[in-house]
Amino acid sequence: MKPVTKVVIPVAGWGTRSLPATKNIPKEMLPVYNKPVIQYVVEEAQSSGMNDVILVTNRDKSVIEDHFDHNLQLEGYLESKGKLDMLKSVKDVAEMVNVIGIRQKEQKGLGHAIMCARSAIGNDPFAIMVGDDVIFSGTPGIKQLVDVAMSENMPVVGVMEVPWDCVDRYGIVDGEEVGLGIYRVNDMVEKPAKDKAPSRLAIVGRYVLTPDIFECLDQTEPGVGGEIQLTDAMRTLCKKRGMMAVKIRGKRFDAGNWPEFLAANIYFGLQDEKVRYPLIEDLKQFLVLE
Ligand code: UTP
Repeated sequence: MKPVTKVVIPVAGWGTRSLPATKNIPKEMLPVYNKPVIQYVVEEAQSSGMNDVILVTNRDKSVIEDHFDHNLQLEGYLESKGKLDMLKSVKDVAEMVNVIGIRQKEQKGLGHAIMCARSAIGNDPFAIMVGDDVIFSGTPGIKQLVDVAMSENMPVVGVMEVPWDCVDRYGIVDGEEVGLGIYRVNDMVEKPAKDKAPSRLAIVGRYVLTPDIFECLDQTEPGVGGEIQLTDAMRTLCKKRGMMAVKIRGKRFDAGNWPEFLAANIYFGLQDEKVRYPLIEDLKQFLVLE
């Protein structure tokens, strides 16, 4: 397989689970400690060798593209005040990657969002990273998939074990473990009932796919809610050319889920020495039960 240098990050959803916070601010721009959610995702892509980032956006999300561009007025102000660390941090974000913005003009699901990126992908293998899933790990989450895709010459989907009570919220993989945390996928099923689920290996927002996924998406009929499901197209791809699953080593936070979003803020705050101890003191006070 050719090296994976392009990533599609779909960010065009409504973010209804996060309302009213997301009435005018995209979910992907909500801060986790001192950076917006999307910056963690793009940093993961960049540190995995992907410099071409295709953002699938909508008319209300141009602020996401702006975040990865220069703000010359702000940079000039920071320079004039000698705030050079801050200046570096805002310049670094602007210079991180090449951003290609593509509009999804109707919100017809994740599969449809990926179809919108077709012309930017061309004939190369590519990654997909869902714009509201933050993964904190040693080896970046998407790099763990790329390594297996390159060695097996096959598409790869990222999975994590979830409690049995949660399987009906995810696409679930039916696979055989062929190496530590590496599975050959037989099939996958979208949001199964607990007693019908083949495993508790849930598909999380990381994929490495081959460009023939677009033909599979063309053949995919809209499913639940009229949406084109990526999982349905991946089932076709899996039958056609095989697929692997990798259990991602690390901690994942879904920014669209309030408890996980709040936990992510505390987690990343605790990593910073300056914030750690005052934060722990505050938390101790909140956690005293009456
Ligand atoms: P989600 O279902 O998690 O996001 O989709 P959502 O639709 O924004 O959020 P809720 O459920 O209403 O709270 C997974 C990812 O796919 C993108 C979303 O932006 C998110 O990053 N997506 C979803 C699109 O880009 N287009 C769509 O039509 C649907």
